[in-house]
Amino acid sequence: MGDSDPRAIFGHVAEELGKRKVAFLFIREVEEEDSLLSEIRGLFAGPVIANDEMEAADGARLIEAGAADAVAFGRDYIATPDLAERIAAGGAPNPQHKPTFYPDTGEALSVGYTDYPTMAEAPLSV
Ligand SMILES: Cc1cc2nc3c(=O)[nH]c(=O)nc-3n(C[C@H](O)[C@H](O)[C@H](O)COP(=O)(O)O)c2cc1C
Repeated sequence: MGDSDPRAIFGHVAEELGKRKVAFLFIREVEEEDSLLSEIRGLFAGPVIANDEMEAADGARLIEAGAADAVAFGRDYIATPDLAERIAAGGAPNPQHKPTFYPDTGEALSVGYTDYPTMAEAPLSV
């Protein structure tokens, strides 16, 4: 989602949603120089969850810097059912296989969301 003045519009929305006691904000924003994450966290009264193309180190850095309260992982979690355990163990996520994410072929797939291996089922790659 874009806007001609993202700082003004998203800052205003964050502040107003906080006044209305919305439980949390989930900010999907690729990390770039013009990131509004920290500002939005300062304006919103509740927890802010950062998302988009995050890796474990990004999440740790953002939380350490106070830019976010938590980090969400999307596609890595689809591909890695035990992502939290792998991060804790210093392991890498399984490679993502996009055809199994959101196929629009209309045909039944033999492999999909629930077939990615856990650490116990595949060697841990570090
Ligand atoms: C197959 C697929 C389905 C998704 N479905 C939704 C959805 O229903 N609602 C939503 O808010 N985001 C949805 N997303 C977006 C993810 O929540 C997330 O914002 C996005 O994948 C970026 O995070 P990532 O880089 O960690 O994957 C979907 C993403 C994928 C790949």
